[in-house]
Amino acid sequence: MISAIKGMNDLFGEKAFRWGKMEEDIKKMMVSANFGEFRTPILEEISLFKRGVGETTDVVKKEMYDFLDKKGRHIAMRPEGTASVVRAFVEHGIGINYPSPFKAFYIAPFFRYERPQKGRLRQFHQFGVEIFGDETPQMDAEMIFTASRVLDHFGIDYEIHLNSIGCKKCRAAYREKLIEYFSARKNELCEDCRTRLEVNPLRLLDCKACDPKCRYADVPKMTDYLCDDCRNHFEELQKALHAFGVKFVLDPFIVRGLDYYTKTAFEIVAKTGGSQNAVAGGGRYDNLVSDIGGNDTPATGFAMGLERLFDLIPEDFYHEEPLAVGYALCDEAVLQLVEFNKKISNKIMTLNNQIRFLADYKPKKLKKALQKAEKANAAFVFIIGEDEAANGTILVKNMATREQKSFDRNDKKYISGIFNFMFPKKQNKQ
Ligand code: HAM
Repeated sequence: MISAIKGMNDLFGEKAFRWGKMEEDIKKMMVSANFGEFRTPILEEISLFKRGVGETTDVVKKEMYDFLDKKGRHIAMRPEGTASVVRAFVEHGIGINYPSPFKAFYIAPFFRYERPQKGRLRQFHQFGVEIFGDETPQMDAEMIFTASRVLDHFGIDYEIHLNSIGCKKCRAAYREKLIEYFSARKNELCEDCRTRLEVNPLRLLDCKACDPKCRYADVPKMTDYLCDDCRNHFEELQKALHAFGVKFVLDPFIVRGLDYYTKTAFEIVAKTGGSQNAVAGGGRYDNLVSDIGGNDTPATGFAMGLERLFDLIPEDFYHEEPLAVGYALCDEAVLQLVEFNKKISNKIMTLNNQIRFLADYKPKKLKKALQKAEKANAAFVFIIGEDEAANGTILVKNMATREQKSFDRNDKKYISGIFNFMFPKKQNKQ
């Protein structure tokens, strides 16, 4: 048997229905805040992620799916969305051709070769936003508010961890301070952290193995080293978050796993759920557009893990519409069921999918049809048997109440009559 690749999931049935609804709700919220959808290809030149995300990050160094194509070009399957959107932003001159701020959102699959476990996949999905052309702390606040709005909509219990990791200028001093501090404790660090100390000391603060930030009480904090501009930005951001009514905790050790951040950095952790409880993360990245070859453009954004979000949404948040199944009980009824399908499908569309309709064209005995309907958990059954086929009627049965009624298919308003029978309290206008 051929199975799906490890860490990559199939999605179907009721779960796919709820997933689709989740995406629909997110899209509606994005459109209302003037975010436009942004789609980029799954494959990019690997150099984009090396330059954009950072050569020394785990995502680029260890987790990328990459290959040489038939012409020997080095290609990667995107591990995240920001670098791709920035590449497209520069390539299409969006900063010049579109009004600023430019607000984009995406819902898309991403690929990271991580050790699969619950909430951590090799093909996972993110909903993300990227906002270009606005350097204000208020726009960072709006970006974080956008993430919190989505989580609030789904009734999720979460905590926002906020930090500032400064700019190139002030981070250099902090970096030196960290190197000095941890060099004195080098022997107590794990092997990875000893390497991090040389190449990317901020990443030490994110280590899950030896966890140095928790082992020592006096680890230097970036927020003590911010320059005036970064400190002011951080303070104004906090004021704007209060004005948006967004609660957060200050967490001086949020450094993020990707290299492009400047100033604002944040993560959102779910208070319920398993160990993979980081549901979203993001921040400001004012240098990335110019690093990728564009004009100096401030930018800010976040991404939310959709598998993690989905697992936090209560199962009864969405309900599938009731199922109605149409059965033909004899050969003469089959084409009549086809005609009925056309009529009821049109009506269902005009009523915004009040029911789901399934036609079962293979003739069968009434008893068998009702057994199948029971098994499919159908709420309603439409039957065209020998009598109904001969006299142009259709029998509609409510499976819960066992009530049934015959409708004359020659009557122009019979489809509306059927809906009135199925949903007696609802007004079904013809
Ligand atoms: P990230 O923190 O790497 O940020 O990923 C964002 C979210 O994606 C995580 O908080 C998590 O919920 C989900 N996620 C990441 N890896 C996996 C995985 N292997 N399996 C399941 N879920 C996962 C970024 O990707 C940045 N591009 C965010 C951003 C946008 N920053 C600025 N703009």
